[in-house]
Amino acid sequence: MNIQKLIKEFQATFKTSLVPRSFFAPGRINLIGEHTDYNGGHVFPASISFGTYALGALRKDQKLRFYSINFSDKGIIECDLSNLSYNDEHNWANYSKGMFLYLQKAGFDIRYGADILFYGNIPNSAGLSSSASIEIVTGVLLEKLYGLTMDRIKIIQCGQKVENDYIGVNSGIMDQFAIGKGKINHAILLNCRTLKYEYAPLELENHDIIIINSNKQRTLAGSKYNERRAQCERALKDLQTECTIESLGELTKVDFEKHKYLIKDKTNRKRAKHIVYENARTLEALEKLKKPNLQGFGKLMNESHISLMNDYEVTGLELDTIVHAAWKQEGVLGARMTGAGFGGCAIAIVEKDKVETFKKNVNNTYRQVIGFDATFYTASIGDGAKEILEEVVQ
Ligand code: GLA
Repeated sequence: MNIQKLIKEFQATFKTSLVPRSFFAPGRINLIGEHTDYNGGHVFPASISFGTYALGALRKDQKLRFYSINFSDKGIIECDLSNLSYNDEHNWANYSKGMFLYLQKAGFDIRYGADILFYGNIPNSAGLSSSASIEIVTGVLLEKLYGLTMDRIKIIQCGQKVENDYIGVNSGIMDQFAIGKGKINHAILLNCRTLKYEYAPLELENHDIIIINSNKQRTLAGSKYNERRAQCERALKDLQTECTIESLGELTKVDFEKHKYLIKDKTNRKRAKHIVYENARTLEALEKLKKPNLQGFGKLMNESHISLMNDYEVTGLELDTIVHAAWKQEGVLGARMTGAGFGGCAIAIVEKDKVETFKKNVNNTYRQVIGFDATFYTASIGDGAKEILEEVVQ
C-alpha cells in the first residue's frame, strides 16, 4: 500500500474528491530506562519505521469523522467539536478525539471539523506505543491542517495528558517524546524531569536490533501499570521524610542505599531500588554507546531485564522466556523487555549473520514453553512525526 492508495481509500470512505494531506508518526522501542519516566529519571528510546498514517481534510461544519483501515469493523466514528468527551463506543478514536479536546482546551483555534483516515502498521497492544503514535500523528495533523503555531513539545505534552486524564493510564512522557522528536538512526537520551535531551547515533557495527513480539497482548489500562506508579509514589513519600527530593530519579545509588530504610514497605523498597539503579544504568548506557563499548551496553540491557523481573516485577513468563532464550544464543550482545512489560515486546542486539539462527532457536523455545509463536522484526530507526508528501507504506 502507498500514499496514493490511502488517498483513494480516503476519498472512497468519505465520498469526496478532496485530496487530503498526509501525516506519519512512528512507534518506539526503548533501549533502556524502563518505568523511570514517571519517576523523573532518564530514558533512552528510539522511533521505529512502523507507525501510524493519518490523512485528513477540513470540513465546513463542526463534525469530526474518523475511520481506521485497521478497525474497519468499527466503521466511521463520528462526533462533534462541541462534544469531545470520552466515549467508550468510540473505541480507538478516543486517542485522536482526546487530542482535539486538549489542544482546544489549551486555547488553539480549532473551529472546523475534519475527516481523518488512519492506517497503522504497528502491531496492536505490543508495547510499541501504537496509542501514542495515534495521539502524536493527530497533533501534527491538527498543527498543519489548522495552520496553528505549535511547539512540538506542546503536542508531546498534550499526548501525555490525553493518556493520563482522558484514557486513564498514568504513563510518563517517554512514548510521546520518542515519537514526536525521533531522529533517523539515533536514540534519544531524555531527562524526564527537565525534558533536556540529546541524540546519540545508534552505531551498532555489525549488529541489528531485533524486536521480538511475545504476541501476549495487553492494554495498560487493564494492567498493573498504575499500581506500580502508586508504589513508587509511596516510596518517594517515605524518603521525603528525610531527603529533599521531588522524584526518585534524583537519587544516586549511594543516597538510595543510605536512606532506603525509610521506605516502610518491602515491596515499595524493591520498586524504588529498580528506579534508582535503572536510572544509573541508563546514563551509563549512553556513555557505553558513545565510546563505543557495545559489550558493555548489552550487559546493561541484561541487568535492566533482571531488575524489571525481580524488583519491579513487570516481565512475566512470556517475556522472561524470550529474553532468557535470547541470552543463550551466539552473537547476542544483550536482550531485555522493552516498554511497560506485562507482555508486549522484547529487544535483542544480535550479530547480523546470526540473526536467522537466533530467531529459529528463540522461537523454538518460546513455542515449547508458551504454546504459540513469537514474531520477529528487524528494527529500523526512523524519524519522528511529520507531514509526508509521498512514501511507500508497508
Ligand atoms: C509505557 C508508558 C511509558 C513508560 C513505559 C515504561 O510505555 O507509556 O510512559 O512508563 O511504559 O518505561
